[in-house]
Parts: sequence; structure tokens; C-alpha cells
Amino acid sequence: MKQVMQAEKLDQENRLKERMALIRHKLIVMSGKGGVGKTSVAVNLSYALALSHKKVGLLDTDLHGPNIAKMLGIEKETLGSSADGIEPVRVLPELKAVSLAFTAQNPDTPIIWRGPLKATAIKQLIGEVNWGTLDYLIIDSPPGTGDEPLSVCQLIPEIGGAVIVTTPQDISILDARKSVLFARQLHIPVIGIIENMSGFICPHCHKETAIFKKGGGEKAALELGVPFLGRIPFDAEQVELADRGVPFVSFRKDTPSAKAFMEIQKGIEDFLEAHK
Ligand SMILES: Nc1ncnc2c1ncn2[C@@H]1O[C@H](COP(=O)(O)OP(=O)(O)OP(=O)(O)O)[C@@H](O)[C@H]1O
Ligand SMILES: [Mg+2]
Repeated sequence: MKQVMQAEKLDQENRLKERMALIRHKLIVMSGKGGVGKTSVAVNLSYALALSHKKVGLLDTDLHGPNIAKMLGIEKETLGSSADGIEPVRVLPELKAVSLAFTAQNPDTPIIWRGPLKATAIKQLIGEVNWGTLDYLIIDSPPGTGDEPLSVCQLIPEIGGAVIVTTPQDISILDARKSVLFARQLHIPVIGIIENMSGFICPHCHKETAIFKKGGGEKAALELGVPFLGRIPFDAEQVELADRGVPFVSFRKDTPSAKAFMEIQKGIEDFLEAHK
């Protein structure tokens, strides 16, 4: 019995490795604090890459509050299955997504997890999904340095890097530092820090107000010796679009936030190619 179980485990691990070997770049989006814009970054980055004809997979590892489905406007979709495993939801011709939201019966019901089960769930989400060949796998995580990012980083071989999202207050240095140290401990290169919600441009007078101050993310990057990827301003329209399930980067390319985002995207692509 024990031998059968061990063989099964080995099989599972080999399958996971085989699947991951078909993916050129894997990156994880993290933050020390909640609500700073990880999911927005993961969703918009995936969308923008897919629109530029890269094959992209978006994996939501937020087990308690999975919300990439809402931000992509595809809450009603469900995961499929085939002889090759779990089939992701196709969002665009070149973008596939997997989230526990695609399995929930009722989106209001909280999903309660005990620690060890989380690791099993993440293992299944990574190892049993038939992603096929991808240029990028983008992994969205819940805030902090807990079970989910830890499982992801331990299970996926050769993660190309971590993108750390923060807000501009001085205190964000503390939050960003935890994520940077976490990545370093797990030998994952830090692609860089994004300072999100950095300044607000009034849609009426077009003047900029630094709601959460400015520069904390850049200062954190400098202090921690990691690249600074750029700042995305607070954009009231972005909130509205996200609630309607429309990625802002694809919708209003001329806005300061979309322009900033495209620069950040380029920085991420260049880093991953240079470090391959
Ligand atoms: N630059 C921005 N301008 C305006 N709204 C933004 C911006 N970035 C994110 N938001 C909005 O802020 C809210 C929180 O963002 P998001 O869900 O991406 O954060 P998160 O870090 O993934 O949160 P959690 O830690 O709960 O997973 C969302 O409503 C999102 O649309
Ligand atoms: Mg999130």
C-alpha cells in the first residue's frame, strides 16, 4: 500500500515537472500587504501579453478570496477536464486562466482551509492543469508570505522571478522588504517593485494629488537593492473597469496608468529574457 502511494506521488511529481517544462517563463506577483493591486497587475499583465500574441496562463492561488475571475468578467465559467487533466478557462485566444472561483458553487460562501489542505490544493492547481505550451505563467497570490506563495515557490521549478507590488507610503518599505527577503530565501530572482496607486490625476482639473504620498516603492527598491519597475497612478476609471471585468490596459491605452503599465510590462519581459 505504502509503495503504491509512493509510486503515485512520484507520478504526480513527474507530471508536474513535465508540465512546467513546457512553460518558458514563470513569475509570481506578491505583496506584503493586502489590497495594493497584485490581482490588477497579474490580470492586466496577462491580458497585455496575450494581446501581443504571447501564450499566457494566469493562475490564481488566492484560495480564500480568488478574484481574477471577477476582474476578467468571467465568473460564470467553470474548469473543464480531459484525459490530459484539468482544462483551464480560455479568456482570449492566447490567454488561459485557472482559479478556484471557477469551481465555487456560490461566490459568497467562504472557503475554509486548514494549512495542509492548502498545499494539496496548490499542488493540484499547478500539477494537474493542462496548460500546454506557454510563454508565460503568471501567478497571483494572496497578500503576505504564507502557505500559498510558499507552496508555489517550492513546487514550481525555475521560477523566473517575483514582481512585488506596493503602495507609495514610507511604511510600504517594511512590507516590500518582507516579500523581497522571502523571494531571496527561496532563491527566486526579484524582477522588481511596482509602486501602485502612486498619485491621483483629477479627471476634472487634471492636476495630480499624491494621495498616499509618492516614492515609497522606489525608495524601497533602492534600499533593498532590487530594480524599480515603475509607478502606476491611482485611476478612478480603473476601479470602475475592474468591477465590470474589463482589464484597463486593453481598454484605454492612452491613459497615464495604461502607459505606465506598458513600460512596466516591458521591464518585466526584458528582465525575464535577460535572466533566462
Ligand atoms: N492604480 C489603481 N488605480 C485605481 N484602482 C486600483 C489601482 N490598482 C488597483 N486598484 C483597485 O484596488 C482594488 C484592490 O486591487 P487588487 O484586488 O488588485 O489588490 P490585491 O493586492 O490583489 O488585493 P488582495 O490582497 O485582497 O488580493 C481593486 O478594486 C482594484 O480595481
Ligand atoms: Mg488579489
